[in-house]
Amino acid sequence: MKTVKFAIIGTGLMGREFASAVMRWPHLSGMKVKPEIVSICGSPLTPEETAWYKSGLSTINQVTEDYKEVLANPEVEAVYCAVPHFLHEQFYVDIIKAGKHLLGEKPFGIDLAANEAVNRAIERNPEVFVRSSSEFPFVPAMQRMCDMIEAGEFGRIIEVEAGFLHSSDLDTNKPINWKRMIKANGEYGCMGDLGIHVCHVPFRAGWVPRNVRAILSNLVPYRPDGKGGTAVCETWDNAVLLCEAEDAEGNPFPLTLKTQRIAPGEKNTWYITVKGMKGSARFTTKQINTLEYMHYTGGGQAWAHEDMGHETTFKSVTGGIFEFGFSDAILQMWAAFLYELTEGKPPKTFAGCVTPEEAHLSHLLFTAALESQKKSSVETLPTV
Ligand SMILES: NC(=O)c1ccc[n+]([C@@H]2O[C@H](COP(=O)([O-])OP(=O)(O)OC[C@H]3O[C@@H](n4cnc5c(N)ncnc54)[C@H](O)[C@@H]3O)[C@@H](O)[C@H]2O)c1
Repeated sequence: MKTVKFAIIGTGLMGREFASAVMRWPHLSGMKVKPEIVSICGSPLTPEETAWYKSGLSTINQVTEDYKEVLANPEVEAVYCAVPHFLHEQFYVDIIKAGKHLLGEKPFGIDLAANEAVNRAIERNPEVFVRSSSEFPFVPAMQRMCDMIEAGEFGRIIEVEAGFLHSSDLDTNKPINWKRMIKANGEYGCMGDLGIHVCHVPFRAGWVPRNVRAILSNLVPYRPDGKGGTAVCETWDNAVLLCEAEDAEGNPFPLTLKTQRIAPGEKNTWYITVKGMKGSARFTTKQINTLEYMHYTGGGQAWAHEDMGHETTFKSVTGGIFEFGFSDAILQMWAAFLYELTEGKPPKTFAGCVTPEEAHLSHLLFTAALESQKKSSVETLPTV
């Protein structure tokens, strides 16, 4: 078993998810590589947080509030970086320059300029393996849909809709946090926060948006500041992007991408529907075990519903009939990152984390979407 020594920079919500995945790495049954966390860095990093990490990970021997100390640590081979968006450019560039492999969090730069700075650092350090996080495609039912895409089972694409919907911001009394402030989260608002998640599968399928008409909504312009006052909440809550995309043969089709923080009734719903001339399929995390599909061969048209359970791409000790959940998707994504890091390519096309090129394409799209909203126009994306 090969070991890759990791640091976590950003010990918040997502840092804990990675730590927990490492703690249950033996859950994966067929891996030839494992991560070991030797260093954690957060700012501020409370004694309670440090105690939580250390209680589950006896391998940690560096705890710091200064990420440069992590980069100077020769033991650290790879970094998971999960910090607010305004820090992505500086932190990711420095991690890459230090020669550490990186799984960075989306949006992979607060804006297009930041993303391109990260990509330049990647070009200059080709020995470093860099990917962006996005876990939902690793749900077994989605992996099955991805197999259908790869096998060309849909025929000519009629239309595709993908979305990521939250509803907790419907509560106007919810205090503002960094994800609702332009200076920390960026102009993209909900697109930066949720957008790469909805782009991952369409982009990997080669469905490239050529143009976009975006309608962005700021539904709650003020929120409690958490200190008894009120704060301006200037980020976009909801985004609907209608794109003209092209399939692998260059045929155009409508691609609708929705990222919404105010979608009543939707707690954390990631979904995709693909309709084609020969086949259609739909998946939603609301019914995380189920893939719905239809093969059209003439005659009647009936949806089939198949429960997938735990038929994961990276095998685990859990029985195949048992249900799959969010933390399982995180574990599968980490297996994919380490597999590709050590084997040089994913085990199959859709079992890989978001590439820097895919992240860049998402930035071109969200930047065009901002322009479209400003001018009520259809914006053409630069050809990539
Ligand atoms: N993949 C997903 O499903 C998913 C879900 C939520 C968030 N995210 C992404 O993860 C990233 C972090 O989000 P989060 O929800 O974990 O945020 P969070 O607020 O819970 O955690 C952010 C962390 O950054 C650390 N930090 C801030 N400034 C720092 C500095 N100068 N040096 C070192 N550490 C610093 C803080 O200590 C904190 O631990 C964001 O990019 C976000 O978009 C991804």
